[in-house]
Amino acid sequence: MEKKDIDWSNLGFGYQVADYRFVANYKDGKWDDGEITTEATVTLSECAGVFQYAQTCFEGLKAYTTEDGKIVCFRPDLNAQRMADSCERLKMPVFPVDRFVKAVEEVVKANAAWVPPFGSGATLYIRPYMMGTSPVIGVKPAEEYQFRIFVTPVGPYFKGGAKPITIRVSDYDRAAPHGTGHIKAGLNYAMSLYQIVDAHEKGFDENMYLDPATRTKVEETGGANFIFITKDGKLVTPKSDSILPSITRRSLMVVAEKYLGMEVEHREVLLSELSDFAECGLCGTAAVISPVGKIVDHGKEICFPSGMDDMGPVTKKLYETLTGIQMGKLEAPEGWVDVIMEE
Ligand code: PLP
Ligand code: COI
Repeated sequence: MEKKDIDWSNLGFGYQVADYRFVANYKDGKWDDGEITTEATVTLSECAGVFQYAQTCFEGLKAYTTEDGKIVCFRPDLNAQRMADSCERLKMPVFPVDRFVKAVEEVVKANAAWVPPFGSGATLYIRPYMMGTSPVIGVKPAEEYQFRIFVTPVGPYFKGGAKPITIRVSDYDRAAPHGTGHIKAGLNYAMSLYQIVDAHEKGFDENMYLDPATRTKVEETGGANFIFITKDGKLVTPKSDSILPSITRRSLMVVAEKYLGMEVEHREVLLSELSDFAECGLCGTAAVISPVGKIVDHGKEICFPSGMDDMGPVTKKLYETLTGIQMGKLEAPEGWVDVIMEE
């Protein structure tokens, strides 16, 4: 199969229209068979639930080319399950986990020419999402839904790739206590847009959100979970009911313990203890692991000893081990790597 003529190594994190996408519709209480289509445009009622009351959720995962030429993706069953959790919270119909995984595989296979080659630094980002399509005007769930999956080749989420970024502590909250912070609802991202634009205008790469109830604990950023490394080499990740349960973070906890023999703590992390850590990073599908060099809390700078030039040494080991597993260089734990196509 011939690859698309793309400058893979210089891709940013953007959208390009690929050839195929998956579409399934929910009507009269059931999902249809779904199909792969070339139609990239969606036409809906002006009163669709997604437009009126933001009834939509999404997922994000990636496909990779391994060193031996296979096309694989990473733990798609966990994305399927998380989307099911999002749907339940938003009163949307669940797209069954096995069908979700099969649809991801089909759409990646159809777009094999768009999967970046091994070693290019790029990957194929896969975006499953669902929306309420039938008209609603009183506040209630829609009766009809569409589930779609598109793909787009991407490079690093943050410009500069592995260069440490600077983030600031946000004055606004991302999620309410007992709200929707733990699911991947579009509404969580809509409310972060004001803050991300403001952060960029002021020279920061991202926002650190605090726990909305007390504003003393670290939650996450607009699109990734935090990891911290203690001075004695432990991995610490914030625990909270209002952050998204990152699949990358959950995988890193296993990688740290089982591959690198590190101690792992999943616990509340206080804003006041940040200066005790040796390294900090953001983790997620898009972010992979992006090192954080500096956190600014209203003028007070917390500079990690790992500095602003390179990824800290432990973060680097975690990064290399995780991406080694994803790209097939290192043996993966059972069930983590889904082979979609052999060479
Ligand atoms: N937190 C938020 C708010 C996100 O949008 C994402 C991205 O999916 C993550 C964390 C990381 O999750 P994952 O590792 O499953 O991609
Ligand atoms: C992902 O990592 O897949 C996300 O959805 C995060 C988003 C900020 C791109």
